[in-house]
Amino acid sequence: MRRKIIAGNWKMNKTRDEALQFIYAISEKLPSLDEVDSVICAPFPLLRTLSKRQGENLRIGAQNMHYADSGAYTGEISADMLTTIGVTYVIIGHSERRAMFNETDETVNLKLKKAFEKGLIPILCVGETLEEREKGHEKKVVKAQLEKDLEGLTKQDIEHLVIAYEPIWAIGTGRTATSEQAEEMCAYVRKVVKDLYGQVADKMRVQYGGSVKVSNIDEILSMPNIDGALVGGASLKAEDFVKLVEAGVNK
Ligand code: PGA
Repeated sequence: MRRKIIAGNWKMNKTRDEALQFIYAISEKLPSLDEVDSVICAPFPLLRTLSKRQGENLRIGAQNMHYADSGAYTGEISADMLTTIGVTYVIIGHSERRAMFNETDETVNLKLKKAFEKGLIPILCVGETLEEREKGHEKKVVKAQLEKDLEGLTKQDIEHLVIAYEPIWAIGTGRTATSEQAEEMCAYVRKVVKDLYGQVADKMRVQYGGSVKVSNIDEILSMPNIDGALVGGASLKAEDFVKLVEAGVNK
């Protein structure tokens, strides 16, 4: 059985003081990592602050990284910079980065390879726009993303990879995909990966993301191909984050 993984994506939110308040509020309250994986993906300046205090039941993730080891890339962050401060996960290819910061399937592919080389666990985001869904192209779009993003990875990489299916029209809009729509697409993500890499796709975890909150997470996680959630807005409140993680236990 695949253990559920609940990841908060804080995006560009929280100062150091706010992050400290959050981490003190959740410590002691999170279920153990044997039961569910819980991750907070925070802005770069907060990562060390959080990883120092993460405790046994929480892992820390970044929201992006560069694919080069080091060099003249002003403003960028390398995988080694993340691992050496206790970061375990990294979100790669979030739709906001694809839309606003020139992230392409080519850079996503390079970043995934580098993350695995350096021992980080990537959370790869894929998903279609509203226009693409209205034209009935969601599967075509997600398949094309996966084929390019995953090119050249090994079966071992796929086993550890986490993919977040995030329909762009459901992100930050309050408009969640129905649990049937989410299940259909998460199952499809697994099928595409299975066609590329074989049975190991059954071990890979697929999250749903897009307006997940305390009131809808149970239904979403009850679906057979949904192994967790990537949560933006609702992950910012300590109390809600604890509830979201608890929803991932024993499902
Ligand atoms: P949301 O964001 O939960 O605020 O919709 C999800 C995401 O962008 O990962």
